[in-house]
Amino acid sequence: MAFARGKVILLGEHAVVYDRPALAAALEQGVRSRAEASGGENELVIPPWGVRWRESAPTHEPTFRAWQALLDLYADHPWGPRRRPLRIELDVGLPGGGGLGCSAAMGVATLAAIDEVLGIARSTHERAERSLVWERVFHGQPSGVDSAMAAAGGIAIFQRGREMRPLSTPEPVRLVIAHSGVSSSTHAMVQRVAQLRELSPERANAIFDEIAALVDAGRRALEAGDLAMLAASMNRNHELLYDLQVSTPELDHLCEVARAQGALGAKLTGAGGGGCMIALVADAYHESRVVEALRAQGRETFAAGIATQPGESRR
Ligand code: PMV
Repeated sequence: MAFARGKVILLGEHAVVYDRPALAAALEQGVRSRAEASGGENELVIPPWGVRWRESAPTHEPTFRAWQALLDLYADHPWGPRRRPLRIELDVGLPGGGGLGCSAAMGVATLAAIDEVLGIARSTHERAERSLVWERVFHGQPSGVDSAMAAAGGIAIFQRGREMRPLSTPEPVRLVIAHSGVSSSTHAMVQRVAQLRELSPERANAIFDEIAALVDAGRRALEAGDLAMLAASMNRNHELLYDLQVSTPELDHLCEVARAQGALGAKLTGAGGGGCMIALVADAYHESRVVEALRAQGRETFAAGIATQPGESRR
């Protein structure tokens, strides 16, 4: 049995695609994967989604293709799934299309479950890198932040092509996460930003640079336990994501609702165009106020625990 976490991007989405750093945090929620010898052929089962796929009956579903791409990694292994088929069952504890790294967690957990059966040991970095074949089916050119967080846990600075830099903070980080009710397509939103960048490269690069500066300020704030400062960076980051045209009126509204109930700061998280918003709250009192207000908007909302020390969030 293997487990990989979902994640939120506290600061830096989209700019991270253009080699700027991002500040991300792993969630308690994630995906469990179990691999076991199958009597017949390779099988993928995802009970809550009603999925029971067999390799001999291919579909065009991206998750089917991602699973096949992952199995291909083991093509030359003498006991790999191409020679000794596996039944893989996934228990998905994250909303898909929510910007919470669900697909990356599925890929990392599945790779880890197959590795477990075959007795393959890998570093978390290698696990994240290898599982990118799964993510690429969904996102084309993912920065890799989702897979890196799914594999490593904790809070970290991620920058494309570099080792992740784990952070610790003296203060507990409490987040409230609300889904806007609209599923978001990371691929489409990344394309939208790419078009914007083609039309006005100077403007787009200036926004990416400002986001990078917010990531740096947010990192220092977290390390010092200054949540108000982190929240100020989140609020400004949301404005810049609005300028990149990846926010929606609903996401803007949910951020306003959270701030009005005393959230220190709020922003969309992930690709935008739908998906989730996150609100940083100071304590349990504000957490429940913000959760209630967002639920009153009819939005699926939950309070998320974030591990504040590297490694603490591993299960
Ligand atoms: O997959 P999501 O929705 O959590 O978004 C990932 C963050 C982006 O920066 C928008 C894309 C990427 O590949 O980093």
